[in-house]
Amino acid sequence: MIEFEGVRYVYPNGVEALKGVSLRIGEGELVAMVGPNGAGKTTLIKHMNGLLKPTEGRVRVFGVDTRKASVAELSRRVGIVFQNSDRQLFSETVEEEIRFGLENFGFSKEEAGERVEEMLERFGLEPYRHASPFSLSGGEKKRLCIALVLAWDPDVLVLDEPTVGQDWANKERIRGLIESLLKEGKSVVVSSHDLEFVWSLRPRVLVVSGGRVVMDGRAEEVLSRDGIEEFRLLRPRLLELYMLLKKKPRRPFFEVGELEEWVKAEVGG
Ligand SMILES: Nc1ncnc2c1ncn2[C@@H]1O[C@H](COP(=O)(O)OP(=O)(O)OP(=O)(O)O)[C@@H](O)[C@H]1O
Ligand SMILES: [Mg+2]
Repeated sequence: MIEFEGVRYVYPNGVEALKGVSLRIGEGELVAMVGPNGAGKTTLIKHMNGLLKPTEGRVRVFGVDTRKASVAELSRRVGIVFQNSDRQLFSETVEEEIRFGLENFGFSKEEAGERVEEMLERFGLEPYRHASPFSLSGGEKKRLCIALVLAWDPDVLVLDEPTVGQDWANKERIRGLIESLLKEGKSVVVSSHDLEFVWSLRPRVLVVSGGRVVMDGRAEEVLSRDGIEEFRLLRPRLLELYMLLKKKPRRPFFEVGELEEWVKAEVGG
């Protein structure tokens, strides 16, 4: 569905941000990209809808070489929510902001209207429909950005650092949203420094560092590995605890899920 083949990317100022990335993301997958600042996560994401084209190598999205399609065509299927909401917003009102993409993608006036209503309701944005997007709080702006992308119903939703600045309840909402999209058969790609959030989703994890994908595997497997600190990753606390307990002679839990169940039962979570 999304395929990177030996992708190198050099910014115009000469910074080589991707140094040979090959990876494949399949339908219905949930993939989390983690890794230090400046690792190349956002650069990778910008290749997924053709905003950036590889300097060398190739990116294919649903079989189409991103060099041969417009950003609009690709975005219709791969919707990206950027980290900085202000750079994604420009309309006069919240309502118009959501409608804009829909009209661009050729939805009829009627259908666009229906979808706008649906999104305003789903994301609790109704009270702000006539407000300027720029008057919203950081968390509300993020919700609006997610709403406006989901409005056109892309097959893949890409979220670049979605939890930055979000309170606990909003993080839970984002988590719930990701889970419901997966149930609908969509694919989701998330980049995040919030390892507890990533862990709660149990995704496939890609560790990106120095312009390369240096690890790729199930969350538990990747985050249990020795040396992840080298990539400035702080292991989720539950996993850390499980790993400590595992070293005891009489191993009390045989998998991290058992420990989680036990903790929940004890504390009534
Ligand atoms: N527009 C740009 N022009 C030049 N260099 C850039 C540009 N954007 C990013 N870079 C450089 O490319 C490298 C990768 O940046 P990128 O934004 O992809 O990292 P990241 O993994 O998303 O980091 P963060 O976790 O801080 O968001 C960095 O060295 C960065 O300085
Ligand atoms: Mg980034």
